[in-house]
Amino acid sequence: KPTEPLVIDGTSYPRDAFTNATPTILDKLPRRLHLQPSHPIGILRSLIESHFSSFAHLNSLSPIVTVAQNFDDLGFPADHPGRALTDSYYLNERHMLRTHTSAHEVELFRQGLDQFLVTADVYRRDEIDRSHYPVFHQMEGCNVVDPAQGGIERLERENAEMRAALGAANIVIEDPTGVETATNPYQAEHDPRTARIIAEHLKNSLNGLVLKLFGGRAGGDGAEPLRVRWIEATFPWTAPSYEVEVMFNGKWLEILGCGVVRQAALDKSGVGHKQGWAFGLGLERIAMVLFSIPDIRLFWSSDARFSNQFRQGDITTFKPYSRFPECYKDLAFWLPEASGAQGGDKVQQWHENDFMELVRDEAGDLVEGVQLIDEFTHPKTGRVSRCYRFNYRSMDRSLSNEEVNVIQERVQERVTSEMGVEVR
Ligand code: PHE
Repeated sequence: KPTEPLVIDGTSYPRDAFTNATPTILDKLPRRLHLQPSHPIGILRSLIESHFSSFAHLNSLSPIVTVAQNFDDLGFPADHPGRALTDSYYLNERHMLRTHTSAHEVELFRQGLDQFLVTADVYRRDEIDRSHYPVFHQMEGCNVVDPAQGGIERLERENAEMRAALGAANIVIEDPTGVETATNPYQAEHDPRTARIIAEHLKNSLNGLVLKLFGGRAGGDGAEPLRVRWIEATFPWTAPSYEVEVMFNGKWLEILGCGVVRQAALDKSGVGHKQGWAFGLGLERIAMVLFSIPDIRLFWSSDARFSNQFRQGDITTFKPYSRFPECYKDLAFWLPEASGAQGGDKVQQWHENDFMELVRDEAGDLVEGVQLIDEFTHPKTGRVSRCYRFNYRSMDRSLSNEEVNVIQERVQERVTSEMGVEVR
């Protein structure tokens, strides 16, 4: 009921103007795909954990976090787009579904953890296509040391070992980010030599991980070297910051973001005397290429033809079972006129993600894609018309035209009544 509080796992969250988490999304919370040992997401988690075997492995942190954990503690500015209601799922003004595993960094540093991996489901409002789903999985890796306890010397020793192993491997690393640059500098608080050792340790650790995941599998005949490239990035709680891409089947695939943790975040955790690095990677994107899984919805399928194909510890190639026929429907409508026009200050701002959310709410996993195919502005009235093409297809069975029509009619009714559009 729209006025009753949301109750999740026995805890009650009063609704307010922020509440936008739908039942369809909340139903995903108990699934925990990353804990299934023979699911591709679980298999990939174990493989990455084995690369960081001395780290603590945390896999059961609740997806419900405070807005402070997800954003404020990490230094996200008040106007950062990720905070928008159109991009994130809120239970209310104070609580939300985490949008990334970085939401746990500060609390875990505060608990005194120095080396850890967090694997978890994360939630973001997004478009609908074969590689986007509002729930996906990330792994966060953090490594901080106390320089007063010989931590930097330890990183240096490990750097020498990792450098030797990478030097002997069939890998080509393009790294124009090198040491600090004018656009991606070390932190003012850091001694440059210490900052360099930490950044090198981060890079060596992740180049080694990429080699473990993709080495000999990146397409071609395996004799070709694996190609990795490092790119400058920005995250509010790391400096310098980077992204890593891997060449796979002839395309650059972005797999993770990382950097040297800002002292402000460590200060917030009460461990300002420590220094170190953090990374966060998305599991679905990597699993889709490693296991050749063509549609992100398959991860959520309970069809035995999917789940029986995978075994704990093995990266194997998915063999698609018969694809069921698709069914296209077009929907054209006038967007609501700009708010404020004709005193209509009740008119909501149109946002595409709200529309996508409504479609997911009605169609669930039966919708494979929703694409904008036409847009024009009426020359006299200035009103904007959009036409979206819906592609319906079940992963598990044939859909009848009648059942798709029922869904499509519900979508049409709800966009009209809830989003103020006028169907053409
Ligand atoms: N949380 C970031 C993301 O989701 C990735 C990241 C993790 C970046 C840790 C830096 C450090 O994109």
